[in-house]
Amino acid sequence: MKSIADAPEQVTKTETEILLSFAKTALAQTQTGDLAEFGCYRGDTSLLLQKLLQNSATRRLWLYDSFAGLPEKSPEDRSAAGDAFKQGELNVTKREVIEKFKRHNLRLPIIKKAFFEDLQPTDLPEKIAFAFLDGDLYASIKISLKLTIPRLAENGIIIVHDYNNPELPGSAKAVDEFLSTHRNLKLEVRETLAIIRQN
Ligand SMILES: C[S@@+](CC[C@H](N)C(=O)[O-])C[C@H]1O[C@@H](n2cnc3c(N)ncnc32)[C@H](O)[C@@H]1O
Repeated sequence: MKSIADAPEQVTKTETEILLSFAKTALAQTQTGDLAEFGCYRGDTSLLLQKLLQNSATRRLWLYDSFAGLPEKSPEDRSAAGDAFKQGELNVTKREVIEKFKRHNLRLPIIKKAFFEDLQPTDLPEKIAFAFLDGDLYASIKISLKLTIPRLAENGIIIVHDYNNPELPGSAKAVDEFLSTHRNLKLEVRETLAIIRQN
């Protein structure tokens, strides 16, 4: 029953379906480019993304997480909906993610343990066909957009989680601010997913 135990707990079933469908589209409509997930947590969604790459000899999955839980919130993250998602929450180990991939007999992704802010250019793929940005907080989403957009392949797709989530208002603020200065990008919202593509 391991597929049920490992079902994503941070993303709803509908969101997971939407996410995978856009990831497949991105893979089909790009010539090159890897997959990336900023904020992989236990690797539940990562596992499903890696399954999409099983027939690809060239594309890789890149995972990023502090593996020290959430960083401190910014003022933009303050929410009337409550004070959940505190600093240090969602703390898991990189080992746990590696073991999960091994259990499922899947190729290991490239896993970087770092705060997004500390990532170096060599820590990132040259081209990104599809990225899932799930860092929950304003600063985390903003930096992951900043790192992802210049590497986005032609016809690539970025999905940001928690766009409509009243408990995590920083996500939408980061997306809206970013898009207001990047007019070449367009936004579509499904559930709490912000789907970003080139115009
Ligand atoms: C909601 S969880 C991700 C869930 C995962 N995408 C899934 O679908 O199962 C958010 C993760 O983002 C990580 N995170 C948030 N901000 C970060 C930052 N600035 N740098 C590194 N990791 C960060 C946290 O450690 C946490 O594991």
